[in-house]
Amino acid sequence: MKLLVCGGAGFIGSNFVRIRVAGGDEVVVLDKLTYAGREENLKGVEHTFVHGAIEDPSKVAEAMDGVDAVVNFAAETHVDRSIADPMAFVRTHGEGTYILLEAARERKLRYVQVSTDEVYGSIAEGSFTEESPLAPSSPYSATKAGADLLVGSYFDTFGLETLICRGSNNYGPNQYPEKLIPLMVLNALHGDKLPVYGDGLNVRNWLFVEDFARGIGHVLEHGVAGEVYNVGGPDEETNITVVKRIVAAVGGSEDELISYVTDRPGHDRRYSLGSEKVRALGWEAQVRFAEGLDRTVAWYRDNAWWWEPIRSGDYREYYERQYGTKLG
Ligand code: NAD
Ligand code: DAU
Repeated sequence: MKLLVCGGAGFIGSNFVRIRVAGGDEVVVLDKLTYAGREENLKGVEHTFVHGAIEDPSKVAEAMDGVDAVVNFAAETHVDRSIADPMAFVRTHGEGTYILLEAARERKLRYVQVSTDEVYGSIAEGSFTEESPLAPSSPYSATKAGADLLVGSYFDTFGLETLICRGSNNYGPNQYPEKLIPLMVLNALHGDKLPVYGDGLNVRNWLFVEDFARGIGHVLEHGVAGEVYNVGGPDEETNITVVKRIVAAVGGSEDELISYVTDRPGHDRRYSLGSEKVRALGWEAQVRFAEGLDRTVAWYRDNAWWWEPIRSGDYREYYERQYGTKLG
């Protein structure tokens, strides 16, 4: 297949591109290169790169020329940033998704929207299914839910071959260090404080990035048009357990490093995704959390060339804004 991968320079997108190119696909990447998008993520991977935004129709037309299918990862992805400044989330998830859908409709292309378990909100017990109602809590998840609804409407109204793939919390190589796991790994490596929100007992359903990338590939190839597929990780953990495991892997004293800080507003307590539907397509998570975390810690330890320019750039300003007051 020749695929257009939007947001392919980001964390999950680049892992997806690497796997698809290794499997023989031809890939065009359309990416705006926001703070989270990095061409280095695609180092050594054969692809055509178009620098542009999904809300720019001319760039979309250039990138979509001659492709068989579209997979859209392009998004603003950090909940804390959506609380501080929601505008880019509204624009990329709303207008951007609309422009992509229109272009795909004109060309009658199969279209996969990469979405998130956060659209369902929080669940105290059990797991979400694809039929669970949408109840997003943050501007991030609300705008992702809006995009999902728009995608569904293009199937119902125009017969576009759409699929939606909702993943749980991803972790692994190339994740920007604003997210829990890479932030804690890099802070622990530097002997910096580990800021745990609230009581640390929020639960996330961890999914190794290569497993999610393969799941999206399964949905692209075998999914039924118009359907939603959940892709959840094999393990659930509280945040404090994750942070303590990172301290154990990196080295250092829990008491000296861990700092409980003011909670995130609207913080969802627990996510849990039921993945029976995608399993029926033949997908299975292959990496358990203990193994994936070790691989992730090792990758950050061995790839300072990747994160050093991030930690010394705009990220410092972001970190100060987000954590300066919290950490005192
Ligand atoms: P990321 O922030 O690492 O990457 C996002 C990519 O999109 C970047 O390369 C960025 O430059 C690009 N981008 C942003 N706005 C754009 C625009 N307007 N036009 C073109 N490119 C744009 O994100 P990620 O963690 O890799 O997430 C990818 C997708 O997967 C997102 O849609 C996200 O909602 C979804 N998702 C993420 C997780 C997770 O745990 N990270 C879990 C489930 C679903
Ligand atoms: O569930 C899928 C979602 O997972 C994706 O759709 C999002 O794009 C992705 O960012 C992620 O959202 P979360 O909000 O769950 O991820 P984050 O890494 O920001 O936080 C994970 C948990 O850790 C959450 O309960 C908040 C907590 N946390 C996070 C940070 C950054 C802390 O306690 N301290 C922190 O410094």
